[in-house]
Amino acid sequence: MVKKRILSGMQTTGNLHLGNLLGALSNWARLQDEYDCYYFAADWHALSSNYEDTGRLKDNLTDLCVNWLAAGLNPDKCVMFIQSLIPEHAVLHLLFSMITPLPWLERVPSYKEKMEQVQNKDLHTYGFLGYPVLQAADIVLYKADFVPVGVDQLPHLELTREIVRRFHDIYGKRVFVEPEGLMSEVPKLPGGDGRKMSKSYNNAIYLSDTREVMAQKIKDIVTDPARVRKTDPGDPEKCVAYSFHKIFTPKDEHPQIETDCRGAKIGCVDCKKRLAGHMFTFMGPLLERRAHWAQRPREALSALLDGTEKARKIARATLDEAEDAMGLNLKGLL
Ligand code: TRP
Ligand code: SF4
Repeated sequence: MVKKRILSGMQTTGNLHLGNLLGALSNWARLQDEYDCYYFAADWHALSSNYEDTGRLKDNLTDLCVNWLAAGLNPDKCVMFIQSLIPEHAVLHLLFSMITPLPWLERVPSYKEKMEQVQNKDLHTYGFLGYPVLQAADIVLYKADFVPVGVDQLPHLELTREIVRRFHDIYGKRVFVEPEGLMSEVPKLPGGDGRKMSKSYNNAIYLSDTREVMAQKIKDIVTDPARVRKTDPGDPEKCVAYSFHKIFTPKDEHPQIETDCRGAKIGCVDCKKRLAGHMFTFMGPLLERRAHWAQRPREALSALLDGTEKARKIARATLDEAEDAMGLNLKGLL
């Protein structure tokens, strides 16, 4: 049986945290066996909102490679590649930009939200508005059946489908596949303060943190605020550390923790020590792989460079088909 194809991308904005790991990478790693997987570093997309500060682009890319291999992405099982080394993405983006009505882009929720939220840089650029058109090109060049993404990205996927339909309508040939979102059950990990785990809230545990820093951050996770003394009964549902237990601690231990907490039989310090134990068990193999690849950044990068060669052939073939459909097959004239 032919495996269905999956494609997903991640912006190269540096410093991955545990939320990114559980939300995307662990899921990507799981999908490798079941699907024909393509994962890429979206370094052009990273430029769309960071076009002024490009000094760390290369370092961010290397960090990303190290983190991906650490998370268990395996070049023997999936194709990993770099967007900006495949100019076909840019060409298809340009061709799509010809047929994409402006209002489709202006109504994309992430566009409107970011325009309102981001104050410190000017996002009134052509590239920022066209972000989802580039994303559409990324996806359909590989004829991906499924795109594992978070809910925030679903409007981008819907737009991709609309662009594909419009292309097919106008040029009368079904070149592309309309991709579907693949919504996996990913555990929602809060930050240590209970808000969403995010770089900008300063509440994240990073894959690049040392074990000591991680241990301290686990100690600092907020617990039930009503539990001032060890003798006060607690409520796990009001405790951020317990949300972490739910993700990292084996299920059969949950009832005991709940009972001990409600009955004031365990102190928060000990409870979080237990949590730390489980978190390090979960992260151990990953941190080992990370240490290994961090010593060999060049090798980590070459895993993506090899993948880029494979991916480019597919992208080229699809772009040829698209250009044929449009009557743009002028290469023979050269
Ligand atoms: N927009 C995605 C994000 O911010 C990144 C991305 C770019 C992507 N191109 C893609 C994701 C294609 C899936 C498919 O997370
Ligand atoms: Fe949270 Fe554990 Fe403290 Fe209860 S005992 S409040 S679950 S840290």
